Amino acid sequence: MKVLKFAVFLAISTTVLLGAEAWASEKARSGSPEKGKILYNKLRCYYCHRIGNEGGNTGPDLTTEGTKKRGMEWQMRNLADPSSTHLRHPENMPKFDRLTEKMFLDLAAYLESLK
Ligand code: HEC
Repeated sequence: MKVLKFAVFLAISTTVLLGAEAWASEKARSGSPEKGKILYNKLRCYYCHRIGNEGGNTGPDLTTEGTKKRGMEWQMRNLADPSSTHLRHPENMPKFDRLTEKMFLDLAAYLESLK
């Protein structure tokens, strides 16, 4: 019983700590969803992803991506290296590792705005 209580305590504290860290880094780094939308089209993300009624279905539907609470950091990491986010088929998404920091921020802000 004691062990279980400790495990629960540990899980809760880790969640709180990680949450605070994510909040702090997200406050410091923001992008423009409008510019991200332009990039999304320029980079042809729609080839594999659907938003609303438009786009392909090789990748997941991104219509409500912002409701998944992935966060800016996660979004940027997933773009640069999909295998780092441990999704099921990361090999099916190309690595967008040649983008500038600003481009990552704008794309991530756009993805997080999809609700
Ligand atoms: C060649 C197809 C392809 C292209 C092009 C592509 N993706 Fe993906 N994407 C995928 C696949 C497949 C997955 C799912 C990977 C998995 O489940 O392991 C994915 C996953 C994602 C996810 C995670 C969704 C979630 O929360 O589970 C996001 C966000 C995403 N892509 C955004 C983008 C953006 C933005 C672009 C353009 C810069 C892009 N993708 C281009 C195929 C693609």
